Amino acid sequence: MNKIAIYPGTFDPVTHGHVDLIKRGIKTFDRLIVAVAHNPDKNPLFTVSERVDMLKEITKGMSNVEIDDFGGLLIDYVRIKGANVVLRGIRAFSDFEYEFQMALINRKLSPKTETIFMMPNESFSYVSSKIIKQIASMQGDISKFVPKVVEEYLKQAGLRIKTLRSKD
Ligand code: COA
Repeated sequence: MNKIAIYPGTFDPVTHGHVDLIKRGIKTFDRLIVAVAHNPDKNPLFTVSERVDMLKEITKGMSNVEIDDFGGLLIDYVRIKGANVVLRGIRAFSDFEYEFQMALINRKLSPKTETIFMMPNESFSYVSSKIIKQIASMQGDISKFVPKVVEEYLKQAGLRIKTLRSKD
């Protein structure tokens, strides 16, 4: 049986940590679908299509990977795609409680779907999308944390980031 995994997330924006996990995922599964959650509750800086485009650019040339987006329940999307695994990253112990809750709820909703956790390289354990946006909004150097294409998107979004921050 082909192992098809869904790697869901908001990816606002995608960081080196996410890319590290994608690379691990494609080595482990027959097919990996990176699924951008619409997640309006998080008030994302980038639109769904911008987040999808960034991921497509970054994964260009990688085999077995597909970039898509979804709204609604993750588990419904998993079913539609005929996948059997949800892949999530655990960066630090602090991620565990939230991930544990999500995995158990998803299991209750769909007992056939397994959640598999992978750890990104420890050098990315402190990176988060929110911190990247904060550094970018203050013109800090984010080149160590995100791929080049994301850096460009963040530069262009400069004004939007400031507007978003002023609402915090
Ligand atoms: N490297 C770097 N950062 C990482 C990372 C990694 N490998 N993995 C996660 N992160 C960071 C993200 O950058 C993000 O940072 P931020 O909070 O500063 O923005 C944070 O960890 C969590 O983001 P993400 O992994 O994208 O998860 P999420 O909590 O935003 O989204 C969904 C989780 C989309 C999978 C979940 O909300 C979902 O399934 N939604 C659909 C609705 C549903 O089915 N609900 C019921 C299930 S409980």
